[in-house]
Parts: sequence; structure tokens; C-alpha cells
Amino acid sequence: MSATSGTGPRFRRLFEPLQVGPMRVPNRICETTNTIRAAQMPGFVDEPFIAHHLAKAKGGTGWIGSETFLLNSPIPQEAAEEFFPGTGAVRVPLFAMPGFSESVAKFADAVRETGAVTVCQLTQLNFTMAASSVPLVEAYDWVPHELDSEEIKQLIRTYAEAAVKFLEAGVDGIEIHCAHETLPQSFLSPALNKRSDEWGGDARDRTRFLREVLLGVKEQVGDRVALGVRVNGQETREGGYDLLELREMMSHVAETGTLDFVNVDVGHSWGGPSYVQPSYYGHAVYREAGKALKVDLEGIALLFSGRVNDPGIAEQLLEQGCCDLVGMTRAGIADPEFANKAREGRLQEMRRCIGCNRCIAKSVKDDAPTLFQKPTCSVNPEVGNELFYAANAGPAAEKKRLVVVGGGAAGCEAARVAAKRGHEVILLERGQRLGGQVNLASAAPGRDAYDDFRIFQENQLEMLGVDVRLETELGAAGVLDLEPDAVACATGSVPRWPDTPGLDPAEVVQGWDVLAGQAEVGERVAVVSQEDHFETPNVADYLAERGRRVEVFHKWMGIGAEIDRYSIGPVMTRLVEHEVVFHTGMRLASVTKGKLEFRSAFGGRTHTFEGFDSVVLVYGSVPDARLYYELKEAGTAARLFLVGSAWVPRLLAEATQHGARVGMEI
Ligand SMILES: Cc1cc2nc3c(=O)[nH]c(=O)nc-3n(C[C@H](O)[C@H](O)[C@H](O)COP(=O)(O)O)c2cc1C
Ligand code: SF4
Repeated sequence: MSATSGTGPRFRRLFEPLQVGPMRVPNRICETTNTIRAAQMPGFVDEPFIAHHLAKAKGGTGWIGSETFLLNSPIPQEAAEEFFPGTGAVRVPLFAMPGFSESVAKFADAVRETGAVTVCQLTQLNFTMAASSVPLVEAYDWVPHELDSEEIKQLIRTYAEAAVKFLEAGVDGIEIHCAHETLPQSFLSPALNKRSDEWGGDARDRTRFLREVLLGVKEQVGDRVALGVRVNGQETREGGYDLLELREMMSHVAETGTLDFVNVDVGHSWGGPSYVQPSYYGHAVYREAGKALKVDLEGIALLFSGRVNDPGIAEQLLEQGCCDLVGMTRAGIADPEFANKAREGRLQEMRRCIGCNRCIAKSVKDDAPTLFQKPTCSVNPEVGNELFYAANAGPAAEKKRLVVVGGGAAGCEAARVAAKRGHEVILLERGQRLGGQVNLASAAPGRDAYDDFRIFQENQLEMLGVDVRLETELGAAGVLDLEPDAVACATGSVPRWPDTPGLDPAEVVQGWDVLAGQAEVGERVAVVSQEDHFETPNVADYLAERGRRVEVFHKWMGIGAEIDRYSIGPVMTRLVEHEVVFHTGMRLASVTKGKLEFRSAFGGRTHTFEGFDSVVLVYGSVPDARLYYELKEAGTAARLFLVGSAWVPRLLAEATQHGARVGMEI
């Protein structure tokens, strides 16, 4: 590993090239592997895949880790397919398909043209078989098959066989995935590896599997490809290894002389800590793992990642000696051009990752990504749709006047995209600032990063010359007086009122008003919920943090059912720490002077709870489309659009996506 002098006065270290084995990385910014399922055909390297990951290389990211490549597992021929869906086990590997090396070569060539490097990750992500019959992922109760030594040797060979294909494709680096509950990590872990043969035992013996894998790959690739490993810095599960033990294990692995780089992060794929750290975590909180390993592994490049969304933080990590390379993966999803913007000092133009985890949430859901619905990013609607945007987001043929009503996510994005395409845009917002529901989200503890979305939109709209009129509500006639060619009604939604007969509005307040700081709430609070995402825990957290005694009554099995497994940890930890009490399967029947009656969701029984000072409702929201229908009735020639939650309330990603499409449509 050696460094030469680089450019960029503000981020001097960040833009220094680095030699990693035979691979020269042009700067320190890395897209660590992120399986966002960009390909049209899941798992293939095709045009949409290339468009997604190449955008980051073109945007200045030096190291492109793209998506993981699943290797084949020794699944017995007679075992039913039913065992494997969702467990990552693959019978026939992609790398054995005809044309595989050629498709990867096309990608690697395109990346090389930008000056960046391609590093491919080889993965046995396999909850079906492991070192011992101990469940790998605590969120699931799947017990894996314990591998015998023949199967282990077969598994080790899969890495070397795959490496040959990647070598043929001309990639610059190969990474062995040994973190995130992958099969090699099950060998490292004292909690998961209970073997008494040569593949288990003390710290050194538990590294045997990884050492054999590395030696096998090295034998095939020699010094033509940089070789490294991704490890979890500390297991944070009962009986798992800590950072000290990992350091010992990595020193044994390094003795093989095969390592050009080590990629370290901290966390697992459920609860906390999560390795895809949501907004609740500080930036680079686990940087000590990088720092410690960097000291131990002299001469081996050290990559650290974990919620680094800002070039300033990345520069600081390099300066503090925490790493040689910085993973900035979601930073590049939110804004593939962020690296170029940093180098050119265009920091105000940067669209920062807000740590909402929408990207990973949908990537790991088996039912979500289809040919028509792809994982995307809440703040960057281009993600997963790069080719569509390339074809449709160019300059408009004819300049038109667009009036956008409503400055929430959908309205701002419609205005931004339309203005970028050359249209004249007037944006009317009745509130004192832009942001809409994003401002409510950012009021909740641990979610202030959501402000970055509003700040990005404010900066963009100003730079693009959008005429933003705050505290302005014109009504249909006033809007038409502006002589628009098109009107985008992004008027948002309003909190849903329960269909509880006779419910007196004086007895309850809405969760939105609580988050907006506009509701009086007493000491003992009942939060009544018919909502499955962040709003219910956010309202409960907001109140509990302010010293209220909170009890949540939820309509179904438990709150937050729609929150991804990478984010749910800190959300629930906060509520548990605040001693929030949960009641499940409760449908509100009546509220009278702090006395609440519920019907069970699972039968006819009723339950009564008394002594509450306040009742807060979290029932989601319903569209507010009044202006759209008024305009329609007025019979205007202007083209009318109903956008975002004014059409149908969903999440932030749907709102920005919808807004952007309207901006492209006119
Ligand atoms: C959509 C998505 C998919 C991911 N898939 C993988 C994967 O296949 N292999 C892997 O090692 N890490 C994966 N990760 C984790 C990232 O490499 C990275 O460690 C994580 O996003 C935290 O870094 P960041 O804060 O810079 O985003 C994934 C992350 C995301 C957001
Ligand atoms: S979806 Fe959310 S977490 Fe993922 S990159 Fe976009 S802003 Fe960041």
C-alpha cells in the first residue's frame, strides 16, 4: 500500500490516490457493496445495473463495489427448493452461466474508463447451512444444517472457481464477504461455531475456513487482482467475538500474506447495532474498529464504513488514522455525484443521505422488487430508474409555466425537476417553510437528518430560480390568475379521523399536532395507533423523551411492522429505555374523560383502561385534494396534476418519485 500526492485543498486526503496491492484507487471514496437489485433481471449485470453503479463512478467515487455475487452452496440434489427462498442459498451460481464474465467485463471496462476501480464481492450468504446448527440471524428462528468437512471443502472451492471468472472479466479487486451473517462469519464466531474438529476451537482455528478461502483464491489470481476481506468489527451478540478477539483473528488471517485490504464495519442485520445504520446513529460511531485494525494490519489498506454521508466526516476519519479508505455507500445512492461536488467545492448542491434505509428495506424484501417496482431512494428518485431519467429528464422542448401548490416532498421535487428542465416555476406554500411532512419526521428524536432533505430542496430551488412564495394560499381562482400552463396540486394529506362512533374531538389530539409542537399533552398519555411505519414510535418517543408516561395501543400484532430490520433496533431500544408500555390487538371503541375502551382485534372481548390525561391518535393520513377538484370544476385549460400524498399517502420515496415524474411530464 502506498500513497502519492493528490488534489483538492479542502479534502486533501480524500482525493489522494492509494495503491492497494496491484490496484490503484484514484481516491479514498468507496461504494462498498450494496445489493440494491438495480438489474432488470435480479442478479445479472445488465444495462440498468451498469447505469446505476456507473453513475457513481462518473460522479467521482473511486472504488465501485456494486452488488454482491452469490456463490453456489452444496445443496443436496434431493432437497426440496422450499428450503431455500429468502435464505440466500444458491444451487447454480451466476458465475457459471454463459456470458457471465463478458457481462462483468463490460461493467469493469466502463468503470475503468472513468478512472475508478471495480471490486467484486464473493458471498456465501446462506442461512441454510453454517459452521454449526445455531441460527445466524437472531430475527429468524431458522436453524441451519451443520456442514461436514466434505461440504466445507466444496464451499471453499466455490470462491476460487468464482475468482477465476472475475479475473477473466478484468475486475480490479475481489472481496471475500465475512461479515453480515455470511457463512464465513459463522466460522469466526464463538457464538455460532461450536465445532470440535479442525474448523472450530480457539480464535486461530476459527479463522481456518477464511484462511483456506483466501489461499484458494490467491492461488488462482496471484498478484493480478487486489484481494481483501469484509469483516464485522464486533459481533454484539451474546457470546460473540468483540473487537479485541477480532484483532487477534485478523492477525492470524494476515499471516497468510494474501490480504491487500480489509473492509471493516460494525453491526448485524437485525435490531442493534445495525450495519446499515439509520439516522438514529451518529456518524461513523464505530470508527474505533477501523482505527484499531489499522494499527494491527500495517501495510494492508483499511476500509471503514458506517454512516459517513459527508466528505468532511470522511476527511476527518482519514486524518484521525481510522482508515485509509472510506465507505460512503448510501451517500452515493442519495447523490451519485457527491464526490465530484465535494472536489469542486459545490457542497451546497449535495443531496445528503438522510439515513431512512428505504434503499435496503426494499432490497431485502422478497415480495417488493419486481420488474415494475424496484428499490429506490427516498431523496433521489433516479435510483433504480437511471435509464428512464436519462431518456426523459433532459431540457424541455418548450418552456412552460408550472404552478406547484404545496411545498412538501412531492411539490418541491416537481418544482425542482421542472425548473431544471428549463420551465418557469412558481411554488406556493401556505406554511412558513418548505418540507411538509418531512418537517414532522425531523421533529422526532433521532431523525433530525430529515432536515437535510428540506435544506437540499431550498438550495436547489433557489439556484434554479424557482419563485417560492411562502405563507401563500391562493385558492383555485388565485392560482389560475397566475396563468399557468400546468398546475401540480401537491397539497398533501391530513390526519385520518377514526371511524369510532361518537368520538368527541375535544377528547383527543392528533399525533401530527404533537410532533409540530401544537398540542397540549398531559402527564399520562395513551397513543392509539392504526399506523405501521415510523409515525407511531416517533410520537411515543417524542412524548416519552419529554417526560410523559406513554402507553401505546396498536390495532394489530405490534407497532412498526413496516419498519425494516436494519432500523427497528434503535427505534425500539429508545421506547424500551423510556419504559413505554405496549398493548396489541386493540381497536378503539370509545374515549370518555381519560377512560378508553377497546375491542380486541382477535375476538369480541372489550378492554377498559383509565386514568389518562391525554389521548393521541396516530391513524395515518387521508389525501387533501380539494384544490385539484376545484380547479377541475373551474374548467381551466391548464394541465392539472394531483401529486404525492394529495393523490395517495405513502412514504417519502413515493412522494419524491411522483413529483419528479410530474416535473418530467410537462
Ligand atoms: C441497499 C443496500 C444493500 C446492501 N447490500 C450489501 C451487500 O450485498 N454486501 C455488503 O457487504 N454490504 C451491503 N450493504 C451495506 C453497505 O455496504 C454499507 O456497509 C452500509 O450501507 C453502511 O455504509 P453507509 O453508511 O456508507 O451507507 C448494503 C447496503 C445497502 C444500503
Ligand atoms: S433511501 Fe434513505 S438511507 Fe437509502 S440512500 Fe436514500 S436517503 Fe439514504
